[in-house]
Amino acid sequence: MKAIVIYPFLKISASKQTDMRTPECRLQEAVTLCKAIDVAVCHSEIIALRKIDSATILTTGKLEELHESVLLHEADVLVVDSAVSPSQQRNLEKKLNIKVLDRIGLILEIFGQRAATKEGHLQVEHARLSYQKSRLVKAWSHLERQRGGGGFTGGPGETQKESDRRMIDDAIKRIEKKLESVVKTRDLHRKSRKKVPYPIIALAGYTNAGKSTLFNKLTDADVLEADMLFATLDPTLRTVKLPSNDKIILSDTVGFVSDLPTQLVKAFRATLEEVNQADIILHVRDIAHPETDIQKQDVLSVLSELGLDKNILIVEIFNKIDILLADDDGDAHLQRMVSYNELHNIPTLSCSALTGQGIDEIRLWIQNYLNKNKTYYHITFTSDDAESLAAFYRTTHIIQRDDRENGDVVLKVQMNAHHYGVLKKQYPQLEF
Ligand code: GTP
Repeated sequence: MKAIVIYPFLKISASKQTDMRTPECRLQEAVTLCKAIDVAVCHSEIIALRKIDSATILTTGKLEELHESVLLHEADVLVVDSAVSPSQQRNLEKKLNIKVLDRIGLILEIFGQRAATKEGHLQVEHARLSYQKSRLVKAWSHLERQRGGGGFTGGPGETQKESDRRMIDDAIKRIEKKLESVVKTRDLHRKSRKKVPYPIIALAGYTNAGKSTLFNKLTDADVLEADMLFATLDPTLRTVKLPSNDKIILSDTVGFVSDLPTQLVKAFRATLEEVNQADIILHVRDIAHPETDIQKQDVLSVLSELGLDKNILIVEIFNKIDILLADDDGDAHLQRMVSYNELHNIPTLSCSALTGQGIDEIRLWIQNYLNKNKTYYHITFTSDDAESLAAFYRTTHIIQRDDRENGDVVLKVQMNAHHYGVLKKQYPQLEF
C-alpha cells in the first residue's frame, strides 16, 4: 500500500497560532504513523493555505498537482493530517480517485492493527463505529442543509441514512455487551493479581518514546519492540526481580499521541485503570525529540483527562540520552533539563534503553523508594508451618532467621504495610 501524506495548515500570524508544533514535526509524525501500519509513504508535503476551501480543503491548483503525484507514484491512499469533514473526504476521493484518511481515521487503523487482546479489538471497533456514526450524522445534516429544509422531509436518501445509523447503533450495542463480559473477566484477573503482594510499576509515555525497549531492558523480556507507533495498546505485565530480591510487577501500558480521538480516549480507559493501580508511574520521555516538552504536556493532559489518581508518584525517565549526548552541547542540554525538574520537584532519572546506560540506576531507585516505606516484622513458624515458611522464602525479603530450641523459626522480614496486610490474611495460622 502506497500513501501520499499531506499536512495542510492555515497561514496565520504567529500570535494567533494555537498549535505549538512545527509543521515539519507534524508531517514527520504523520509519516511515522503511516509506517506503523506498513504503508509506504511515496510523497509527503506541508501545504500552507491562505484559506481552507470548504469543499476540498485545498486549492484547485494544489489538487491538480496532487492528482499528478497520485498517478506518478500509483498511490492508493491520501492521508490528510488534520480533520476532514465527511463531504470534504468524499470530494477529495472523487477528485483524486483514491481513498482518503484523516488523522483520526489513520489512528483508528493503527489501533485496529496493534490491538492484541480481545478487549483491545472490541475497544477499537467500538471507537471506529462511534466515529463512523458521528460522521454519518454530519453527512446527513449536510445533505439536509443542501436540500434547504430541516426536519423529516422523507426521501430515499434519508431512509438509507436512518437504517445505516440503526445498524451502527445495533453493532455498538452488541460490542458494548461483549466488552462488559470481557471487562468482568479482566477485573477478576486484576483482583487475583492484587493478592500478589508486589508493587506495580507502570510505564506510560508518548508514542515512540521507548517504553517497550525500556520494558525489555528492565525485564529481559522479548516483547514486540519496533520503530512502530502504538505497539502497545494492551497492557503487558511482567514480574521483575530487583537487586534486593524484591519483586515488582512492571506494566507496559499506553503510547500516547497528540489529538487522540475522543472515541479512543475512552478505549484507553481500561488500560489507564492499570496505571491507576500502580504504585509508581515511569513517564518515559524521548528527551532527544525536538518537541519533547510538548509531548510531555500531551501525555499529562490525557492522563488527567482520564482521571489519573493524583496520589500516584510520577517519575520522569529521560530516555534516549545516547542521542542527546552524541551532540556537542548535549551534556549541558541534559543538565539544564534535569535542573528544571529538580527545581520543580519532579523525580527524574536518565537512561538509554537502547544501550542499557542508566538501567541499573532505575532498578536501584525503585528499590530504594519502595524500601523507604518498609518496616521490619517478626513472624513465627512452628514445625507444622514448613510450607508457609518455604513460601515466605520465595516471596519476601528476609533479613534474619532465628531457629529456636522448641523447633520454631522466627523470621525478620522487611516489607511494606500493604504486603504485611495481605500476608496476614493469607496465613491466619501464623503469629505475626
Ligand atoms: P509505542 O508502542 O508506539 O508507544 O512506542 P514505545 O514508546 O514503546 O517505543 P519503542 O520502545 O518501540 O521504541 C521506539 C524506537 O525508539 C525504536 O526504534 C527503539 O529502538 C528506539 N529507542 C528506544 N529507546 C532508545 C534509546 O534509548 N536510544 C535510541 N537511540 N533509540 C531508542
